Order: sequence, then structure tokens, then C-alpha cells
Amino acid sequence: MVSLLAKVASADAESIAHAARILRQGGLVAFPTETVYGLGADATNGRAVAGIFAAKGRPRFNPLIVHVRDLAEAERHAEFTDAARDLAARFWPGALTLVLPRATTPLSDLVSAGLSTVALRVPAHPVAQRLLQEAAVPIAAPSANPSGKVSATTAVHVAEGLQDKVDFILDGGATILGLESTVIGFDGDRPALLRPGAITREDIEAVAGSLRKAGPAIQSPGQLDSHYAPSASLRLNVSEPEPDEALLGFGPSQNAALNLSPAGNLKEAAANLFAMLRQLDRNAPRIAVMPIPERGLGEAINDRLRRAAAARA
Ligand code: TXA
Ligand code: MG
Repeated sequence: MVSLLAKVASADAESIAHAARILRQGGLVAFPTETVYGLGADATNGRAVAGIFAAKGRPRFNPLIVHVRDLAEAERHAEFTDAARDLAARFWPGALTLVLPRATTPLSDLVSAGLSTVALRVPAHPVAQRLLQEAAVPIAAPSANPSGKVSATTAVHVAEGLQDKVDFILDGGATILGLESTVIGFDGDRPALLRPGAITREDIEAVAGSLRKAGPAIQSPGQLDSHYAPSASLRLNVSEPEPDEALLGFGPSQNAALNLSPAGNLKEAAANLFAMLRQLDRNAPRIAVMPIPERGLGEAINDRLRRAAAARA
């Protein structure tokens, strides 16, 4: 317990400066972003980046998102097109990740896992921003959970999954959005949705025009079926739970064990999703989830739920 506490610090100027030093020395730091917690390493240090794959048990073929301070820094690492620049201008800093051809860059090849592209994001969370400023290196950071498990939206979740594997955890409270960033790739100048996320398809399409499904020209190795897997089994689109199922509600419900949003608000549901899955997983062998509409943030919520359920199939 003592060693765990020594690793977690409430995010303030001093702890962020400490975290930045650890990053520059090649260590692993978990930190809050507006989406989920990230497990960060200096993206220019191949040994440090290799440490991320080892800590998460992440397959080497699954590339990492590199976090940078702003668009100008992002343009040093990747070849931007006008379409990419328009999206960055509208949504950065924020929950958008752009996958673009690598430029000649000091980024470790490992962040791209053998692909010719790199995923870039400028996070909006003040702690993430400050950490990027202080560390003065790009930070490679996947979600701070063991590979295939539910993402972490609090520092306690990070510690539960990775306490022995990480050098330091910055605690910035519960993340506001609760779902990972939306990942957009390009086929030439035409954007494709590689992963639905905290920015809705509708909002992206308002800037970029209609999004295509990722074709074979664009690889997204992270979209494996089994992901976000709780230990409990998961059944979706359930209105009437069986007696041994704990019901995760959405909208009005008499018999929900927990409710993502009694008012049926998708933003609230997204923010609660991973924490409530973890909580039910601790107490029930079987989880049933009420139907969630596919519009807006529902697309990303249902994507995570389908992957969590697929792990059981
Ligand atoms: O909100 C988020 O995106 C969080 C926070 C920490 O920024 N990060 C996150 O990272 O969710 P991760 O590693 O759990 O998910 C990154 C996704 C994976 O599906 C990965 O395959 C995809 O982005 N990705 C990364 N680089 C890629 C590339 N070069 N080409 C295609 N997909 C890529
Ligand atoms: Mg992840």
C-alpha cells in the first residue's frame, strides 16, 4: 500500500514537474486527459516506448497515439493535408486523433508499430497540456489499462491495473468525457473513421464531409474484436434482465443496478460507462445492458459495449 501511495500524486505544479523529469529520463507516467487516462513515455525514446508495450502487455503490431502541444508541433512529425489541417483547426486541443503519413521525425519507429503513418493528438486537459510543456518531448500514450481491459477514467483505475508497471501516476480526478478520442485516418484527402470516440461522427462530418469506413488502404490494428473486456459476461440490448444479471440502465428504469444516465443523456452515459462497467464487474458474474441509441455518442458507446461483449462470445 505504501509503495502504491508513493507513486500517486494529486496533479499540481510540483508533481507535474516531477512527472516531466521521469518522462525525460525514460520512465512511464500515467496522466489524465479529457478522454481517459494515458500511460505516457517519451515518444522519441525507443526503450521508453518499448516499456509501454511491456507494461500493458500490448501486441507489438498495435501502434500508439503521440500527444503533442499544438498543431505546429504535430506538423513536424507528419505530412498534413488541407483536410487534416481543417479538422485539427476545429477540434484541437481535444478528443480527436489524426493518423497521417510520418514525416522525417525523431519519433521512435515503435510508436507506428511498423506502419508508415503516425497517430497524433493535442489533448485539451490542463494537466496533460502542462505535462507536455514541462517535459518538452512528444508523449506516446495509449489508454492506461492492461491490454484488452476496460480503459481507466480515474487514477485509482490506473493503479488497479498497472501499479507495479508504472513509475508515477498523476491524479487529476475523473476524466470528463470518459471515452477515448475519435481516430480519423485518410485515404488521400478523404477522411475515414478508424475508431468512433468522444467527438461524434456528426460533428466531424460537419467539417470533413461524409466519413467512409476504413478500407483496406488504411490499417487500424487496434480495432480487434475483443477489447474493453470485463471479467463478467455481457449481454446487450436487454430490457428484461434474467434473475442473475445485473442491469446497466440507460433512461428510466425500475430495475437497473446502475444507470448510465436515468435522463437518457448520451454525454452523461459516456462519462459513466467505464467506471460503471468496472463497478458491476466487481459484484456480478453477468451484466446486461439496456438499449442505447446509435446516434451521436451512442455510436462510440455501442462500439465499446459490442467489443466488451464479443470477448465472451
Ligand atoms: O483518448 C485517447 O485516444 C487515449 C488518450 C490517452 O489519448 N488514448 C488511447 O490510446 O485510447 P489507445 O492506444 O488505447 O488507442 C489508440 C488507437 C488504437 O486503436 C490504435 O490501433 C490506433 O489508435 N492507432 C494508433 N496509431 C495508429 C496508426 N498509425 N494507424 C492506425 N491506427 C492507429
Ligand atoms: Mg486502449
